[in-house]
Amino acid sequence: MEPLSPEGVLVSNQKISHPLLEKKKVELHLKREDLIHPEISGNKFRKLKYNLLRAKELKYDTLLTFGGAYSNHIAATAYAGKVNKMQTIGVIRGEEIAERWSDNPTLSAAHQQGMKFKFVSRTDYRKKESTAFINKLKMEFGEFYVVPEGGTNNLAVRGCEEILTPKDAEFDIICCSVGTGGTLAGIINSATPSQQVIGFPALKGHFLKKDICKFVENGNWKLCEDYHFGGYARVDESLISFINEMYQNTGIPLDPVYTGKMIFGVLDLVAGDFFDPGIKILAIHTGGLQGIAGINLYLKSKNLPIIDI
Ligand SMILES: Cc1ncc(COP(=O)(O)O)c(C=O)c1O
Repeated sequence: MEPLSPEGVLVSNQKISHPLLEKKKVELHLKREDLIHPEISGNKFRKLKYNLLRAKELKYDTLLTFGGAYSNHIAATAYAGKVNKMQTIGVIRGEEIAERWSDNPTLSAAHQQGMKFKFVSRTDYRKKESTAFINKLKMEFGEFYVVPEGGTNNLAVRGCEEILTPKDAEFDIICCSVGTGGTLAGIINSATPSQQVIGFPALKGHFLKKDICKFVENGNWKLCEDYHFGGYARVDESLISFINEMYQNTGIPLDPVYTGKMIFGVLDLVAGDFFDPGIKILAIHTGGLQGIAGINLYLKSKNLPIIDI
């Protein structure tokens, strides 16, 4: 991906200091993938890297992808398209948003990068992988390279296999947030046989395991499904104050949809003695900070405390 050089990506692991970790003698380090790039951060960079290369090889000049109104993937694809001089089209779930998309921080930022939108009903959105649906879009927009929802496909998993480096072999446990499962699949594929990988789904549902199995062969992983806080993009006051406290105490910004829930879960497991003393955990910060503005709009509308980072 240009002008970001994939080989030039330098990501450091940051050790988290927290009284609980000291008390339980567990080490927690955070891989700061969020610092890869301000707009194409974390797993988005990893997932788009080989897809962009493939789209260019196949001589496409337009990318089309799908997402909800606050999607990190929509935001990142719009920016990646701009820096790679490609047109971008976002198929957005929810016809009603067509009337007020400019009030939405994710969509207005994507539009500024040149993304065109196609707003579709939730029923049509469910058909998005069908040939008929894609052909209709081609009649409207011409030829395009399709990046799937959430960016997950074989090329995205290949990019996510580059998140762990040989130096990370020193960790016993790798923790990562899960949406579609592509990022976790890449991590599972590149973990060493002695490492255990734990995924923290940000949404409810048991369909994920099957999806992840399509991309992996190793068995050294599991999902911890207790920290979705009621479902995708659902938050409560305990999560918001946890994110604010983490920021005040460590300077690390976490997003409320993915990494905030995962780190909350990791520390809760530490508190419950799930990990033996002496264990070294590496958690992956997959970015997603652009989503905070959208969640804050919702929190303000409900007169709830906002994320203050
Ligand atoms: C910030 C962030 N973290 C984690 C994930 C989960 O990634 P995946 O969909 O590959 O499971 C996403 C969603 O793509 C995300 O935006």
